[in-house]
Amino acid sequence: MPRILVIDDEASIRELLKDFLLAKGFEIATAEDGETGLNLLKEEKFDLLLLDLMMPGMNGMDILRNIASEKMDITSIMITAYASIQTAVEAMKLGAFDYITKPFNLEDMHFAIKRALDVTRLHEENNRLKKELKRKFSSNKIIGNSIPIQNVIKFIEKIADTDSTVLVTGESGTGKELVAKTIHYQSSRSRNPFVPLNCAAIPKDILESELFGHEKGAFTGAVNTRIGRFELANNGTLFLDEIGELAPALQVKLLRVLQEKEFERVGGIKTIKVDVRIIAATNKDLEKAVKEGAFREDLFYRLNVIPLHLPPLRKMKEDIPLLLEHFVLDISKRKKKEPPRILPETANYLINYKWPGNVRELENLIERLIILKEGDIITPEDLPERFYDKLQMPKVFSKAHMLSSEGVDLNVMLDEIENNMIVQALEMSRGVKSKAASLLGLNRTTLIEKMKKKAIDFGAKTVE
Ligand SMILES: Nc1ncnc2c1ncn2[C@@H]1O[C@H](COP(=O)(O)OP(=O)(O)OP(=O)(O)O)[C@@H](O)[C@H]1O
Ligand SMILES: [Mg+2]
Repeated sequence: MPRILVIDDEASIRELLKDFLLAKGFEIATAEDGETGLNLLKEEKFDLLLLDLMMPGMNGMDILRNIASEKMDITSIMITAYASIQTAVEAMKLGAFDYITKPFNLEDMHFAIKRALDVTRLHEENNRLKKELKRKFSSNKIIGNSIPIQNVIKFIEKIADTDSTVLVTGESGTGKELVAKTIHYQSSRSRNPFVPLNCAAIPKDILESELFGHEKGAFTGAVNTRIGRFELANNGTLFLDEIGELAPALQVKLLRVLQEKEFERVGGIKTIKVDVRIIAATNKDLEKAVKEGAFREDLFYRLNVIPLHLPPLRKMKEDIPLLLEHFVLDISKRKKKEPPRILPETANYLINYKWPGNVRELENLIERLIILKEGDIITPEDLPERFYDKLQMPKVFSKAHMLSSEGVDLNVMLDEIENNMIVQALEMSRGVKSKAASLLGLNRTTLIEKMKKKAIDFGAKTVE
């Protein structure tokens, strides 16, 4: 049952509306002044507000202003004896859905209410669908709590629903395509196609026809008319990946489409108009390419309307545990495998790795580990060789030996490591000191001195 709140200072009007609307099956609450009404609105959920304009104290316009400033989600109809275009326009500007003049006829009132409720329902349905759509793409979600990635997420929210051209830059594997898709699905074009085209992956001689389509007979092999990506993306988004690889001749043609929003198919004479939002991406330094004459300056400025740079993974190290968890669960689910567990020590190697291939490299690694270690525990030994590069941590390092923000007592730590190594060497060499010394790269007397100093007593067990 839709719930309606009536705010009117005239008791007779409140009673009239209450009786009538109750009889029509609505739930009704009434308030005799603005303050009481506004409090009710804040405390309870209503589907519709019938609001008198002229009231002592807080009047109808004040209430509308409050509703707008507090972003309350309520449809309202103004009731006024003093109708003028001016007040009606003002009320609508403040977000009123409709207005009705006193004295009113109850059937007109009923009609206005029904219309307002229908439109509200439609809006709600729309919002629900939009949310659902967003949820659908949430497996394609940008993950990360670090400041650099949160800034990217906020920026996307701001620019998604504009038609402006975006140039996404960033190293390989930083999520340029993911970002392009996110922009599309957060824009009002989301119901229309997202069409990707990788300019580097398609041979130069057919790229033009890929972009613009061709007419039958345009060239040898063009047996049928074919529409290009620009036409496919009409009303949607065209994602031009690796734009830096576009040949000069096509750069000119693309520039024209961006300027005029029209083009001809290859071999065609008919001009085709399209409404396409362009998102371009590159891992090249396009500004440098412009300076070197490899990329047209005018095209660069056409594309670079909204620049969006993605941070490399090594600049968002704190997000690595989150990304690990995300990919382990996501890929295991997709591959229908039991997710493995990553030992904290293993995670430390991953956090300290440089990730030249960024998130893509991380994702690929996890995929491989899931296949190899299904349901098992992933230890540092399971990681590929490159994780033990000289610049990385030596393999003996464990989490206990990672410098934390609380700091360490280096002397105590080194002492412990030294003790530990000496004891291990003595054990391994069954107490033969000369052997233990050579395992440690020490000469025998140095080892004996150290043992004395540290009071390491292998006693009878040691052999000279
Ligand atoms: N922040 C992130 N959260 C979740 N997944 C991410 C994130 N960044 C990248 N990915 C994932 O990493 C993979 C690589 O991303 P994407 O293909 O978008 O990168 P790219 O910048 O286009 O790479 P390339 O330059 O190699 O084409 C994709 O599977 C993408 O979903
Ligand atoms: Mg890409």
